[in-house]
Amino acid sequence: MAEKTAYSQAFHSGRYDKASGLLGKYDNVRRFWEDQVTSIFLRPALNDLVENKRKRLERLRVLDLGCGSGDGFDLIMGVTTKDPGIYEYITAALTDDMLKEYVGLDLNEDLLRQAEEYYGQAPKMRFVQGDLTHGLPPQIMQEEEPFDFYFTSYGTLSHFHDHQAVDLVADISKHAPHKAIVMLDWLGRYTYEWQNLWHHPVDQEYFMDYRISYIYPEDQRDKVEVASFPLRLMSRDEIMKIVAEASRKSGVQVKPLVFFDRSIFIGRHMDTGDYNKNCPKLRGPVNSLFESYVRTDLESLFVNYVPRQGFAPINNFFEMFFMSCNALVEYTISLLSKYSCDTATFQSPPAQVLPYYPEPLKEAMHTMRRVVEGVGWVKFGDARANMIESHLAYSLRKLEMELQPGTGMGHGLVGIFEINK
Ligand SMILES: C[S@@+](CC[C@H](N)C(=O)[O-])C[C@H]1O[C@@H](n2cnc3c(N)ncnc32)[C@H](O)[C@@H]1O
Repeated sequence: MAEKTAYSQAFHSGRYDKASGLLGKYDNVRRFWEDQVTSIFLRPALNDLVENKRKRLERLRVLDLGCGSGDGFDLIMGVTTKDPGIYEYITAALTDDMLKEYVGLDLNEDLLRQAEEYYGQAPKMRFVQGDLTHGLPPQIMQEEEPFDFYFTSYGTLSHFHDHQAVDLVADISKHAPHKAIVMLDWLGRYTYEWQNLWHHPVDQEYFMDYRISYIYPEDQRDKVEVASFPLRLMSRDEIMKIVAEASRKSGVQVKPLVFFDRSIFIGRHMDTGDYNKNCPKLRGPVNSLFESYVRTDLESLFVNYVPRQGFAPINNFFEMFFMSCNALVEYTISLLSKYSCDTATFQSPPAQVLPYYPEPLKEAMHTMRRVVEGVGWVKFGDARANMIESHLAYSLRKLEMELQPGTGMGHGLVGIFEINK
């Protein structure tokens, strides 16, 4: 009886599920694509910040705004140094000895409880409840020392109206010291996932009705009542307006360092088709590319982009982007079809890499060829599933990072800024 209760408890806790990165909030795409893209764009600013603090014999204080269950902590501690090479064991830009304190702030008690459960024992981490609708709450503005890094992640700022975002950024600018970094994270306006919403005028604040339908298995989505809530969609120009207004209000210069689009290829709503029936289901296959001992049908990665009339510049970007991704997938298929594991050579020459292809595509193709040649012959383990496919995922991620304009073409649009006083 006791045994039965113990097993039932384990089952209902969800921790007895099969370990896999194929589904769920922390799927492979979240960990190896989305978190990594954020951390790679953040790397230069965080490296500089850590170096400057070290020179001044000081350590970093970090404030995670809208921290939820505290996932941002792992995100920032996972950012690597500029060039870790292959030999180094410790590659973190911000090592634990350089962290003075991480403070996570959120409105939601349940999420804060979960954060406490995960990280409550960590001596340098603290979670506080607070409301950001009127700027930084008084317990931060008046009672906390300045932080070196103020950040939001995974669309937190989309919960707010523009005037509220202005107040928040203005308060951060007043509270922050010279050279602090600020990371502001919204949902993008022009992702292919919600092409049906592109027509909303860009001179008006637009909030989409966001459905978290992707947490349900596909065959249940129509049967359950999926909760929805409003989220602000943003372009880079709109963010710049908010930041300029906040800067004017606070009298502090807020200098943009970089903008980036996150999840152009694999946003979560690609697979639901809730806001664009033409989206291919890409997140599932990309999760599979990253998963060891699971082979992926590479044909399922091809995108047949359907343009939207009246949006020529955006259509042109997506044409170029998806055609480049398709070319890389097609090339990889041709490499695999021509490679002989027995002789460790290509039996006939692989397809050509054409000189007029975009540079990142050429580099990704050359790399895929070297990876197939380098490991295709390995007999133990599954070289294709464990090494070649994961590298195809990293190469597609590279295309997303290097071909993008950073203007709102992905599920997320993020701006990183420096405070100058
Ligand atoms: C999209 S989630 C991001 C959570 C987390 N940062 C992550 O990366 O998973 C947005 C978070 O903002 C919080 N939030 C929404 N409105 C808020 C408010 N007015 N004040 C403080 N937090 C708020 C939500 O509770 C939620 O945890």
